[in-house]
Amino acid sequence: MDISPRIAVIDSGIGGTGVLDAIRQLAPWADIAYVADHAFGPYGERSLDQVRERTEVIARYLDTAGVELVVIACNSASAAALHHLREAMPETPFVGMEPAVKPAASLTRSGVIGVMATAATFQGTLFNDLVGRHASDVQIVTQACAGLAAAIEAGDDVGDLLDRYLEPMVTAGADVVVLGCTHYPIVRIDIEARLPDGVVVIDPAPAVAKRTVDVAHDAGVDLKGSGATWWWTTGFTPPLRPAGDSAISGIAWEPIDIPDGCPRAVRIADTTLSAVTGDITAMPVDAIVNAANVELMHGGGVALAIARAGGPAIDTESRAWIETYGVLEPGLAALTSAGAMPSSYVIHVAGPIWRSDADNESLLAAAALAAVDMADEISAATMAVPAVSAGIYGYPPDEATGVIVETIAEHLSETETTLHSVRFVGYDETMTLRFAGALDRLVLEP
Ligand code: DGL
Repeated sequence: MDISPRIAVIDSGIGGTGVLDAIRQLAPWADIAYVADHAFGPYGERSLDQVRERTEVIARYLDTAGVELVVIACNSASAAALHHLREAMPETPFVGMEPAVKPAASLTRSGVIGVMATAATFQGTLFNDLVGRHASDVQIVTQACAGLAAAIEAGDDVGDLLDRYLEPMVTAGADVVVLGCTHYPIVRIDIEARLPDGVVVIDPAPAVAKRTVDVAHDAGVDLKGSGATWWWTTGFTPPLRPAGDSAISGIAWEPIDIPDGCPRAVRIADTTLSAVTGDITAMPVDAIVNAANVELMHGGGVALAIARAGGPAIDTESRAWIETYGVLEPGLAALTSAGAMPSSYVIHVAGPIWRSDADNESLLAAAALAAVDMADEISAATMAVPAVSAGIYGYPPDEATGVIVETIAEHLSETETTLHSVRFVGYDETMTLRFAGALDRLVLEP
């Protein structure tokens, strides 16, 4: 039986694992994807706009993965995006986080509470609203803990940072300290060790878990699945470390390739398709696709860039291919090494030169299909595809990107594949947005 996650718990990294653990205690059979955005995190020192855009890209991706409820297990992302997400994706229930100022205000006896969080969390209107509503009569010592989440993520020693960040709260006489970032409970023992006896430390994870279960019930999200957890990271090489008691050491992370700067990503079966701007020759993927000509003479556009970045191997191997097989017909793919580029292979396909009297679409679809077939033949896990035919070959770019995306998506939905990532690479943002539009249309017109 095919199962897919119903709930997703997302954070910039491993911070949200405490929330995941708390949800698991209440809903042991729920099917949950844990999403660590290692490619973009830490969030705390990014602008609120950046974090909001990124969180929306991930939330929309999760929608295509079948997720029905999203828990933003990150105070920074909640501050930046929660309100916007609820408006932009009204069909999806979101559970967010906020520093536990309300319980802290009712617990304090000294009238002073400390709140540790990221700069982003304090910048959001959410935090000021909270204080205005629940804590106007207590003194709040706020501490933006620059670098702390990143250090926890990396498994670095945090002793000096904690000494520095806790000192003002202790001096002010705080008797309640709120952990306003989901990374901080991972070092709760080190925090408690630096606070005077009797100071209460609040981690809102159990309350967020309870809220998640309530929202799931209200929205009809099934919590009685198989109890599976998917561990997804947007980073190719996530920092792996044991996280407190959450037992995440030894987790086999599955990469979901949503690169920094990606405006749209969708999931088809187990493959992530993304749009991204960049230099395809610099991408660390298994295979890059070349928009070649039929003679494999790499004289312009993407082909010239690939021949230059890859070095002499590209031309030498291309000539050898032509000597063996003749011209590169549409529907064929030629394989060479990637020479000096960080990828392993170049898959060369010849898209059509656009002509008003030709069946351009079939020719371009044949080239795109040849590329993805070859990727499977060489067991590539990751592939980057440029806008074949859309440059000097004159194919209208909106149509070309649409044909390429649709052809590859259709193949992935019908065929077993080794690919877990296909990046559609625009050399500028305009082209990337065309690819993003094509990915959008897959979702709107499946
Ligand atoms: N764990 C997140 C939070 O709750 C973000 C930490 C970061 O990425 O800076 O704020």
